[in-house]
Amino acid sequence: MLINNSQVGFNNKYNLLTYGCQMNVRDSETISGILESLGYISTDNYTEADLVVFNTCSVRHSAENKVYSKLGEINKFKKHKPELMIAFGGCMAQVPEVRRRLKRLGVDVLFGTHNIHNLAQLIDEARNENKRAYQVWDEAGPVIESLPVKRQAGLSAFVNIMYGCNNFCSYCIVPYTRGRERSRTPEHIIHEVSNLAEAGYKEVTLLGQNVNSYGLGLEKPYNFAELLEMVADNSPGIERIRFTTSHPKDISDKLIYTIAKGGKICEHVHVALQSGSNKILNMMNRKYTKEHYINITSKMRDKIPNVAITTDIIVGFPGETEEDFTETIDVVNKVQFDAAYTFMYSPRSGTRAADFTEHVPIGIKKARLSYLMEVQYDIAARINKTLEGQIEEVLVEGPSKTNADFLTARTRNNRIVIFPGSSSLIGQIINIRIVEGKTFSLTGELINNF
Ligand code: SAH
Ligand code: SF4
Ligand code: F3S
Repeated sequence: MLINNSQVGFNNKYNLLTYGCQMNVRDSETISGILESLGYISTDNYTEADLVVFNTCSVRHSAENKVYSKLGEINKFKKHKPELMIAFGGCMAQVPEVRRRLKRLGVDVLFGTHNIHNLAQLIDEARNENKRAYQVWDEAGPVIESLPVKRQAGLSAFVNIMYGCNNFCSYCIVPYTRGRERSRTPEHIIHEVSNLAEAGYKEVTLLGQNVNSYGLGLEKPYNFAELLEMVADNSPGIERIRFTTSHPKDISDKLIYTIAKGGKICEHVHVALQSGSNKILNMMNRKYTKEHYINITSKMRDKIPNVAITTDIIVGFPGETEEDFTETIDVVNKVQFDAAYTFMYSPRSGTRAADFTEHVPIGIKKARLSYLMEVQYDIAARINKTLEGQIEEVLVEGPSKTNADFLTARTRNNRIVIFPGSSSLIGQIINIRIVEGKTFSLTGELINNF
């Protein structure tokens, strides 16, 4: 594809702004791959870019607001540099309401989550034909393999095993922005993991909105536990395999036993609770009960040595009473999560819950969120304290962001450990003695003869 380089000020630089979850981080690697195959060079500074690309998230109102505010800032700048092109993609591009609003803003290229493969063509159209190029499909076709990719630097890489979601939790926009569930074949996944190992990556995280339903719709059926084993057996050079996220309704015994075997598969399961109240879980269309959740997580704690269990929780879902919230706190106390992401419910237009009318007042939502965080932080700090003096196997990831003399590493069950050490350790798996356990991280010291 040819880019018209004759335009005044066109310097081939792009600034990519990524919002949202790991899916978007991975999609951004494809977007970068496409742009760099066209000759663009990345910059972190939009004032020196000719193309700004937004890869957006729609999961909560606050996520969309961040994007609107940045778009406003860049549009203001564009007044001084009219040739600056703005491309807008990701989950917000899939939302009709957003698209209506964008019409009034200076977006030159609009591309949906199912249209990334056509980004080069859309940019070309917008630049050379000097018009707006918009393409958003409601549903994806078959999975497209072999798009160019520019990976983020580091030791760890994301690998999609499936796209989309079929669960339609009543609060969630994702099934609308990402379409129906589609699995990649094990061959494509293993091929990508091998390429990553060859490029020096040590760790992969397998990505899906509900990895436990992997394989549905494939010509030759596989389940997720089988995929995990296949990846572990066919990835020389990769030391650790992680995965996210798991849905409580679909976690099988086979999966629990597969993780329990250890080896490359790390002992960390992210399994969203959302609420501890059966009434609310039912209204959320989550398809499990509080009792099932407690059972499945206690089985994990029983069978998988040192497993870390992390979760997502929403407070203030429509109709949530004080009793419902107390049920959530009860599960949090019973399961003793290693970490939790906590959110206030945010209505998303087009979802079923957007029509529910029993809104919880914002003051109550805020109070519940801060109480939940207090309870969870105490639990995390207490668990981390029990690790003091223990030996942990860590992968050394790089220099600590907060202290140049320290390194940052990660335990098998996804805890961050900061410790003093030489940069020659980066990329190695070593044993560390935990010195201090804090709420969000651990400090450690070397015990081998390094
Ligand atoms: N597929 C993942 C979740 C992806 S969205 C899973 O099911 O585990 C990440 C988290 O955002 C969800 O788990 C939920 O806790 C939160 N979330 C999604 N929609 C939300 C909304 N409308 N308001 C508040 N939080 C929401
Ligand atoms: Fe959203 Fe539920 Fe699908 Fe997760 S499983 S992406 S919360 S609809
Ligand atoms: Fe992820 Fe946000 Fe889309 S959480 S799937 S980027 S709505």
